Amino acid sequence: MADDTTDTKSSNQMWGGRFASGPDAIMEEINASIGFDKKLFAQDIRGSIAHATMLAHQGIISAEDKDKIVHGLNTILSEIESGNFEFSRQLEDIHMNVEARLATLIGPAAGRLHTARSRNDQVALDFRLWVKEELQKTEQMLTGLIAAFLDRAEEHAESVMPGFTHLQTAQPVTFGHHCMAYVEMFGRDRSRVRHAIEHLDESPIGAAALAGTGYPIDRHMTAKALGFREPTRNSIDTVSDRDFAIEFLSIAAIAGMHLSRLAEEIVIWSTPQFGFVRLSDAFSTGSSIMPQKKNPDAAELVRAKTGRINGSLVALLTIMKGLPLAYSKDMQEDKEQVFDAAESLELAIAAMTGMVRDMTVNTARMKAAAGSGYSTATDLADWLVREAGLPFRDAHHVTGRAVALAESKGCDLAELPLSDLQAIHPDITDKVYDVLTVEASVASRKSFGGTAPSEVRKQIAFWRARN
Ligand code: ARG
Repeated sequence: MADDTTDTKSSNQMWGGRFASGPDAIMEEINASIGFDKKLFAQDIRGSIAHATMLAHQGIISAEDKDKIVHGLNTILSEIESGNFEFSRQLEDIHMNVEARLATLIGPAAGRLHTARSRNDQVALDFRLWVKEELQKTEQMLTGLIAAFLDRAEEHAESVMPGFTHLQTAQPVTFGHHCMAYVEMFGRDRSRVRHAIEHLDESPIGAAALAGTGYPIDRHMTAKALGFREPTRNSIDTVSDRDFAIEFLSIAAIAGMHLSRLAEEIVIWSTPQFGFVRLSDAFSTGSSIMPQKKNPDAAELVRAKTGRINGSLVALLTIMKGLPLAYSKDMQEDKEQVFDAAESLELAIAAMTGMVRDMTVNTARMKAAAGSGYSTATDLADWLVREAGLPFRDAHHVTGRAVALAESKGCDLAELPLSDLQAIHPDITDKVYDVLTVEASVASRKSFGGTAPSEVRKQIAFWRARN
């Protein structure tokens, strides 16, 4: 951590008025956040420009000083963007690094920027702006993932595969229907993201340290300039609230859980034993010792990133728990959790979108598996109810006997001769074979939201229009 430290012992130039000496080295190390909050530089400068503009508009600072401040801040922005800015750990954080550089660039006018504000509302503003942008990016990325699934669902609206419960073959479904299950999951994530943007769309700047300010500021003006719907309504809550960060992490954790379930399915489907999908070379790796292997590393890492995101959520909930109002320095620990989770989530969504788009679906393998494991047993029971008038419970029992017989003969239900079936129940006719195929089974499940290709196509059309 020694890289950006310069070794002087003078007191802090921003708040050191009452301090005789500078901080202990350990104090400086535990106190500084510049190592990670420099990520907020663009938001910090944008916020300061809006604040200075409002101060001048309200006659709190002169137009001349405002112009100097804005010009200086823009210079700093390009310095940081081009890598020509020296961050100092002694200056603690991004706010004071920017302000100190502003003083060097424009002189005493820089000292007027911090009128009617505190780092408490400043950091709340910067971080909210950052999280808002990240949520907007997440929304777009989820839309890309949903689009990938919609395309695969359309392509495979008729491809049959086994549907599972307990990871045991249950009933035949279509691969398109299975893809659409993920569209529903990521669609819910996306609406959570949209709601979170609405929740956080309030501007904190002007809450000052915690009590508001005596200067005649216009918080509606800064809110508007920064693209917020309105200013926050309680200055104490404003500087002590990190719900927006916790909401981001909660959403990331839920989306991560969905991504991890998908990752797990891809890991299973791509085993030679299942063979339902083949991952593209772009999203798999080989083994250094076993030449035959193709490993689903990207899927496995997505599964693991979920653990990291969950950790960040629990960390921030724990950091905030029990903090008295309003601001406490504990809250400085909020950023690394959110930055890390955001990076993990972005990577996970991008990797999954690529995998879903690229993977080759082995429809022959899926179809063969769909027919095994007596997956059409329910169809036989339903036929007995419909055609032979049996109560469902009796039909269930008769079908169970047919399954046991097929199992003892080592064949599928559809391979049992009619005489065998009639020995179990005399009302069974050769018409029963029409429902024992997997295609007939899926086509019959036309209930709203069911697996029939016609239904799946309706749901695809719904999501394409919904966007
Ligand atoms: N670096 C600080 C943070 O991230 C900025 C706010 C500091 N405020 C203060 N009163 N010390 O929370």
